[in-house]
Amino acid sequence: MAGVIRNVADARRRARRTLPRVVYDYVDGGADDEITMAENERAFRDIAFRPRVAVDTGEPDLTTTVLGTRVSMPVLLAPCGLVRLMHPDSALGVGRAAAAKDTIWVLSSVAGVTLEAAAPAGGRRWFQLYASGGRREAEETIERAKAAGYEALVVTVDTPALGNRERDARHGVGTPMRLDAHTAIRLGPQVLARPRWSLRMIRSGVSMLKRPSRPTDVAARAGTDLETASSFYTHASPFTWADIAWVRERWAKPLLVKGVLTGADAVQAADAGADAVVVSNHGGRQLDGAAATIRALPEVVDTVSGRIEVLMDGGVRRGGDVLKALAMGARAVLIGRPYLYGLSADGQRGVERILDILRSEMARSLRLLGCASVSELDRSYVEIPERTGGLANRS
Ligand SMILES: Cc1cc2nc3c(=O)[nH]c(=O)nc-3n(C[C@H](O)[C@H](O)[C@H](O)COP(=O)(O)O)c2cc1C
Repeated sequence: MAGVIRNVADARRRARRTLPRVVYDYVDGGADDEITMAENERAFRDIAFRPRVAVDTGEPDLTTTVLGTRVSMPVLLAPCGLVRLMHPDSALGVGRAAAAKDTIWVLSSVAGVTLEAAAPAGGRRWFQLYASGGRREAEETIERAKAAGYEALVVTVDTPALGNRERDARHGVGTPMRLDAHTAIRLGPQVLARPRWSLRMIRSGVSMLKRPSRPTDVAARAGTDLETASSFYTHASPFTWADIAWVRERWAKPLLVKGVLTGADAVQAADAGADAVVVSNHGGRQLDGAAATIRALPEVVDTVSGRIEVLMDGGVRRGGDVLKALAMGARAVLIGRPYLYGLSADGQRGVERILDILRSEMARSLRLLGCASVSELDRSYVEIPERTGGLANRS
């Protein structure tokens, strides 16, 4: 068995060895030339810490609240599609890991598990809505999310069309990833090369070959099984700010808008009644060339903080990255790929391992920063490079 997972990069290597290439590339890949995806990680390196030395911090306090919910640390699990392909623990394992580590997890509309089936995972659960099927479908999904006890709704708005994921296309599975009998046969060698993954999948009864039984049945669609999940996007019709206001009227609990990159759009979200925005470019999987999220964050914070909460995701790979985002005004961050790598490597335990790693990295970095609590972080702890405009960097 491979060595211990000491950091997110180790988990990524482990995932690469565990998953058939087609699944690994679905997790690891981005849109077009993957510029934005790379920038998300790289841009964190431009930010330098300004530590305060000779301070007795004691054991640093990582707890905070996000929209009124107390969490053990400012790291939430982002909504991610098709998690059942990564490990049979699936969305339930993700939710149980979050519950065990006392943080929030967000179930994707296309997780490959229905929102009712994922609910027993427990913990603080939020639901992510792709309102691509229009208001009628959204209404039904919102009612189901209410009935199943989800505590907040996250509406993703950066997907009016699906990003061009060329890694998927090269495997012949296209975007969205669709696995039918023909592709399964063609990808046979990849699958055979990963017997541990294949056995897990066979034992858990995940079929990649079934056809959707009722593809147009709304109730069966949102947060549904793998086949219909992967056909979900093909019906996309974009949701507008008026639709967000419409959702607001139907959803009394916290409402977040995910995928905002500018101050002006954050104002639109607040005006439509959102309680928070997630500064996100979908992990670089949608519009390639969009700015790194850590770079987009200050403008959004400066425009709407005080009015609504600002969260961010994209490129967070170390506890120090979390601290930089918080110092720049994020309430909390979400992680996507890091926990998917953990899930792929070791199911629920792998997700917990990633959360433990980030927690200990944050605690150590806070001590080294001379800061006793995440709630004390502000811009005085970081040196933010001058904006160089667009994606240009100084190297
Ligand atoms: C495999 C994968 C599937 C994703 N599926 C969804 C999804 O269904 N809905 C959504 O809002 N975002 C989705 N995202 C985006 C994540 O929620 C998050 O914005 C992104 O992963 C953050 O970047 P990071 O992976 O660098 O942490 C997905 C990301 C990945 C990697």
